[in-house]
Amino acid sequence: MIRLGVIGHGGRISSVIKNCLREVEPDIRVVGIIDPDEAGARSRLDDCDKNDVIFYDNLDEMMKNAKPDALAIGTRCNLHTPYAIEASKYDIPLYLEKPVAINMEQALSLEKAFQNSKCQVVVSFPLRVSPLCLLAKEYIQKGSIGVPVHICALNYVPYGAVYWEHEYRNYEITQGLFLQKATHDLDYMSFLMDSPIIRVAAMATVGQVFGGTKPSGLVCSKCNEAKTCLESPENRKRNGSGWHTDDHPCVFSSDCGSPATGTNEDASSALLEFASGAHGVYTQVFFSRRDAQKRGAIISGYLGTLDFDWYPNDMKYIRHHASFTDTIKAGEGLSHFGGDTELAHDFIDLIRGEGKSRTGIQTGLQSVYACLAAKQSLENGQFVNVRQLGE
Ligand SMILES: NC(=O)c1ccc[n+]([C@@H]2O[C@H](COP(=O)([O-])OP(=O)(O)OC[C@H]3O[C@@H](n4cnc5c(N)ncnc54)[C@H](O)[C@@H]3O)[C@@H](O)[C@H]2O)c1
Repeated sequence: MIRLGVIGHGGRISSVIKNCLREVEPDIRVVGIIDPDEAGARSRLDDCDKNDVIFYDNLDEMMKNAKPDALAIGTRCNLHTPYAIEASKYDIPLYLEKPVAINMEQALSLEKAFQNSKCQVVVSFPLRVSPLCLLAKEYIQKGSIGVPVHICALNYVPYGAVYWEHEYRNYEITQGLFLQKATHDLDYMSFLMDSPIIRVAAMATVGQVFGGTKPSGLVCSKCNEAKTCLESPENRKRNGSGWHTDDHPCVFSSDCGSPATGTNEDASSALLEFASGAHGVYTQVFFSRRDAQKRGAIISGYLGTLDFDWYPNDMKYIRHHASFTDTIKAGEGLSHFGGDTELAHDFIDLIRGEGKSRTGIQTGLQSVYACLAAKQSLENGQFVNVRQLGE
């Protein structure tokens, strides 16, 4: 049996445990939890964990008494670093949610904490290890497109309203959608280009779609505009535009912050320079819906282009100098396009001492450094150099 200690047993990590870790290793048990919302955390447990789990106030206590074989951190973004620093003192594997840090101070202290740590980390970057991304990598490695010279990655998020509904709209906690969302994409782009991002220029549009001046705390069921508002549950249902159609906090409320105090971007883009000399662009759009959904990249070298999209889960390989184009279709219906299962395999293998993480703490940190450069560029309108690990 694998004994797992969990810090922040929320929606995401409980789903990873139930649907991914337990799929790979049925004999895993949550033996300890640190979470101030005991009732909520308990309600998200599988039946097999409910009887034996014990709640603790801090990690030292949980380590001493629950004796976990591994740890998972699933708190909101601002607490990933402080808990990961504590976890770095123990030599057991750690599953760490992204972003691994939300500001430079956190990132630097996290990098320092892991310099001499034996704690092996699986950062929750499912896109990098998803089968489609690995297939693209395989094509690049075997020279199908020649040296990759350019990458254009697109992220048209069909469920983007979530970033204005729940805790994701709390800018204090997330620090914007480069850190919250693009951390995945900048990571896999760097992986595919086999080169770190060294310089970024970014631009964002804020406050033109979401956010606004509707009262704080407003929810659709208490709003007298629900009949006409395109975001009300009834209209989302009617228009087929919902990601969910439950009652929810108003996405046009003052709770979403403001351009002056900090708020999530309706859309944001970055121009990226890689150490290899290649460059790329990344764009994320959060108000797109339905068939506008798109997440993937176009990678080109002199010999060819790869064009993949996780939504249809397919990839086109275009030979530039021969009249053939292949379309490769991957399986469907997998969590995070199959990446979550891959991460689960990595984590269980680490715990069994049988494998290595493909998304170590370095990948999480390097991506955070690129995201922080993008954020700084949004603020000062300049190109910003990306800090490199160990600098
Ligand atoms: N890797 C991915 O693809 C992916 C997908 C979704 C979410 N996430 C990340 O997962 C994280 C959690 O998101 P969520 O939707 O599960 O949030 P959530 O609010 O459902 O879960 C957070 C949990 O942390 C607990 N918590 C609050 N304060 C705490 C404290 N001081 N100590 C310990 N626990 C505390 C909360 O009670 C809650 O149970 C976010 O950072 C998000 O970015 C990652």
